[in-house]
Amino acid sequence: MKLKGTFSPPGDKSISHRIGLLSLLAGGQTRVGNYSTCEDCQTTLKVVESLGVRLERTGGDVVLHGLDRKLSPKNRELDCGNSGTTMRLIMGLLAGLPGEYSLDGDASLRKRPMERVAAPLRLMGARVETAGGKPPVTVAGGDLNGISYTLPVASAQLKSAILLAGVQAGGKTTVVEPIKTRDHTEYMLRLCGAKLERSHGAWTVEPARLTLPKNFWVPGDISSAAFFLCGAAMTPGGDVTAERILLNSSRTGMIEVLYRMGARVEEEIQGDVPEAWGRVRVRHSPGLKGCEVAPAEIPLLVDEVPILALLATQAEGDTVFREVGELRVKESDRLDAIITQLNAMGADISIKGDDLYIKGPTPLKAVAGLDSFGDHRIAMMLKIAGVVAGRETAVAKEESASISYPGFYQDLRALLR
Ligand code: S3P
Repeated sequence: MKLKGTFSPPGDKSISHRIGLLSLLAGGQTRVGNYSTCEDCQTTLKVVESLGVRLERTGGDVVLHGLDRKLSPKNRELDCGNSGTTMRLIMGLLAGLPGEYSLDGDASLRKRPMERVAAPLRLMGARVETAGGKPPVTVAGGDLNGISYTLPVASAQLKSAILLAGVQAGGKTTVVEPIKTRDHTEYMLRLCGAKLERSHGAWTVEPARLTLPKNFWVPGDISSAAFFLCGAAMTPGGDVTAERILLNSSRTGMIEVLYRMGARVEEEIQGDVPEAWGRVRVRHSPGLKGCEVAPAEIPLLVDEVPILALLATQAEGDTVFREVGELRVKESDRLDAIITQLNAMGADISIKGDDLYIKGPTPLKAVAGLDSFGDHRIAMMLKIAGVVAGRETAVAKEESASISYPGFYQDLRALLR
């Protein structure tokens, strides 16, 4: 079995969430092309609609009429579904607005840490309550003061929540980021007219009135593209090209690791609006070598660790991902899922402390009883593992792929030869 052909993944999930959420803070209207069709981003649209945003869908575009911070809530109980990004970012956003809101989600979201977001928002003056650090969360916002805050975890969601509160505060807010994480919120706040400055790993935002850009286009999601790109590297005859995908350097850690392992990668940046985007081709890459992935690289590929771990099972020697403890609190315990499911297929993966070790190469065999634990990225990784094993594998709750990539199975069928 091999993967061959060209595909375009859905619009980037992180960027889609952000343009959707910014319609609450900013005035004006925006026509968004290629807004992600994934379930998580549709959750964000439902939430902003329930807070008063008028939304039209025309010819595949989404038109959002910004509220300029004047919410008219139809509902104060907001269902964030499976989406951590929706919940964490909206916590920051609501912290600067009057009224009390309660935020909840599905069983997976209810297990995820929210105290990390609540703590800085309280320092800014909002009242935020969590249920033992987890959802449901209550936010009662209003006048905020600016703060200077050093992130205790390398999380773009946490950084974004503070910046979205900070742009509404009475003074400057500085977020110190010991390890660089994705910077879409910064790009997009600037695009909407905010003043943001970066110096020595710290972002400072000034209070500002925001306006949506008239037109906005979302490049394809590199985190979705990763499954087929890595899949092509592992399968004889593989040759896959992802078109019009996001290539912002805070998201391309996976491509760097592919190069380091000796994969045959060609990358072409074709534009830089709203952020760098272009084409990536990966061909079957015999002789892949294991490598070390340093802590500072993890946020640049955090969602790609499952598929890169699979890739490492096919590489010669040891691969280690350093300090990946955050993967325990994603949509599932991804470290446990990677180890149990891939080892059941014949891999040799272990964890020491927060470091993930993979010894390769190990042939993989298709086995019965694989489980995604309802986690979209584990489901897609295991389907690609099936391709590597040479047989279609059934994976429990594989429909969860639509959380980030609704067309995954269609694209898989089209690329599979
Ligand atoms: C995201 C940031 C990452 C990532 C998630 C999306 C974002 O989470 O795993 O899928 O859009 O900011 P953390 O920032 O919590 O690591």
